[in-house]
Amino acid sequence: MTGSPGASERLFARARTLMPGGVSSPVRAFGSVGGTPRYFARGEGSAAFDEDGRRYIDFCMAWGPLILGHAHPAVIEAVMKAAKDGLAFGTCHRHEPQLAELVLEAFAPADRVRFVVSGTEAVMTAIRLARSHTSRRLLLKFSGCYHGHGDSMLVKAGSGVVTLGIAESEGVTVAQDTLVAPLGDVEALEQVFREHGRDIAAVLIEPLPANNGLLVQENAFLQRLRAITREHGTLLVFDEVISGFRFGFHGYAKLAGVEPDLTTLGKIVGGGLPVGAVVGRAEILDRLAPLGKTYQAGTMAGNPVALAAGIATLQTLRTGEPYRQLETLGAALVKAVERKEARSFRLVRVGSLFWPYYDLNGPVPTQAEKISPGAIAGFKRRYSQWLDAGIYLPPSAYEVGFLSAAHTQEDIERLVSAL
Ligand SMILES: Cc1ncc(COP(=O)(O)O)c(C=O)c1O
Repeated sequence: MTGSPGASERLFARARTLMPGGVSSPVRAFGSVGGTPRYFARGEGSAAFDEDGRRYIDFCMAWGPLILGHAHPAVIEAVMKAAKDGLAFGTCHRHEPQLAELVLEAFAPADRVRFVVSGTEAVMTAIRLARSHTSRRLLLKFSGCYHGHGDSMLVKAGSGVVTLGIAESEGVTVAQDTLVAPLGDVEALEQVFREHGRDIAAVLIEPLPANNGLLVQENAFLQRLRAITREHGTLLVFDEVISGFRFGFHGYAKLAGVEPDLTTLGKIVGGGLPVGAVVGRAEILDRLAPLGKTYQAGTMAGNPVALAAGIATLQTLRTGEPYRQLETLGAALVKAVERKEARSFRLVRVGSLFWPYYDLNGPVPTQAEKISPGAIAGFKRRYSQWLDAGIYLPPSAYEVGFLSAAHTQEDIERLVSAL
């Protein structure tokens, strides 16, 4: 592809005079890795091309939604067809029950889903439902887990916030309703429940925390969480915005052997267009208006073009083929890293998610507080070299890398050489 050298720099300079920090979402500003954000112009399979005309192997993949790669033909065709029929109706349409059936097949025994526009909205809706269902106010979340930018979740919230070095956002007034516990710490969890158990409406967790590094939790911890929430009549919400449909045609819950009360989805469920979802039992979801008195609505909720992208993506995933390819690639990544003798990092990998951790000392962290400053500095120091080598990773040491089914063994080899 032809491009114009220096185009990203010129565009960023212009955007900065018009938009806060020049961006629509903070981590995109490259603040924590330095340099100029790359303005992407086009993507195809595993590759993305910037306005300067440079080609990258993309391991950010829009931060997760593009599990099939850029511009997958089946998804593009579905989107074009839906767009030709009309961009939005603001009415009911046939894509809604179609995507709903696919989602509920994957998340059985849940039997209701409400579509929203983003992961943030899905979490906000889950919280409102939990409070309505339990008539309680408090929430419990875990340090380092990110659940979108809704007010009550912007405490100890992972990548974006940690990257900016602010623990809590200004302008947030309801954070005192949110309790925060360290990940994986059963004693701390039990103490929180001893003190506040009767008032906690919901516990929210990313069952595979992937917004503050990849902090893999023991299934036993998730199972204890299930038991203690059940004992106290608290709802357990699994935020699967990243992990939903990532490891198979199901949630991470299935791998952990834990069934939450509510699941929030985003990213893959929209196949690259804005779709979020709350999934759960009818007993809880039917509290939503118009059946119940818990209000939630959206002009763009369940947009037909966005749902068409989700349907095409899930139908392709449902064949199982992309997951076989992703597992092959993930295993190849581990092998390629092991083959390198002199290594400055350790690779944390779960399926098609990976996190290079630039610290060889001590155990790999499973709690946000244990990530070493050296590991962060090591990532940051190398980031611009990776760009020069045509490797695009999420521009933050706290973010995970994403493999897509469009990546190849050669892409993996190039990634490992660069790392
Ligand atoms: C686990 C998790 N929850 C919620 C969100 C928020 O989703 P969105 O950015 O679509 O609002 C994200 C986004 O990265 C996420 O990773």
